[in-house]
Amino acid sequence: MEYGDGMTDREGIFAGKDPFAIARRWLAEAEGAEPNDPNAIALATVDPDGLPNVRMVLLKEIEDDAFVFYTNYDSAKGIELDSAGKAGFVMHWKSLRRQIRVRGEITREDGPQADAYYASRSLKSRLGAWASKQSRPLSSRATLVAEVAKVTAKHGTNPARPPFWGGYRLRPSHIEFWADGAFRLHDRFAWVRENSDEIWQVQRLNP
Ligand SMILES: Cc1cc2nc3c(=O)[nH]c(=O)nc-3n(C[C@H](O)[C@H](O)[C@H](O)COP(=O)(O)O)c2cc1C
Repeated sequence: MEYGDGMTDREGIFAGKDPFAIARRWLAEAEGAEPNDPNAIALATVDPDGLPNVRMVLLKEIEDDAFVFYTNYDSAKGIELDSAGKAGFVMHWKSLRRQIRVRGEITREDGPQADAYYASRSLKSRLGAWASKQSRPLSSRATLVAEVAKVTAKHGTNPARPPFWGGYRLRPSHIEFWADGAFRLHDRFAWVRENSDEIWQVQRLNP
């Protein structure tokens, strides 16, 4: 597949030289249009057998060159993200009839930025992160409630970020912007780069 600079007929909602700026713009529009969770993404990982695994998470940051979300490092997704070092996600807004697809490399964000995001969450969420052994079997809801009481007694009102909870940063090699068009003639623009230090190549794709 050949990629050009894609500038020729990329206009309106697709305009711009920075895909992260376009993504931020679309998300801002969705924030005004979606009934809830406009920042929800369906995050795809693969297990060691190559079997895909998909679940929703919340996108917390669109940086200059990456997307950041938070989870439990010992969860199924955490283990799969760490072992593959790659992931993909899609965000879809029914209200706007648009989607953004992203694929790329994964690294952990477990420094001061993760501490700051953890600290910004409600106390209940912070304690919940301590209490939940995410993705592992749970005998009953009462067991979880008891665990919350235990970590509340232990960590009090200002818990530190758990060592098993933090962020992941997805630095994309592929970003695709898709918008619904009349008669199913949708618009698609694929942005591709081999390495994160290379410039983006953009190509319009058939719907
Ligand atoms: C709208 C929505 C947002 C969610 N956001 C998160 C999130 O930001 N982080 C997270 O760990 N789980 C989030 N979840 C729960 C995950 O979908 C999933 O159930 C959980 O992380 C365990 O996934 P795993 O077993 O594949 O690791 C969210 C679920 C929904 C429906």
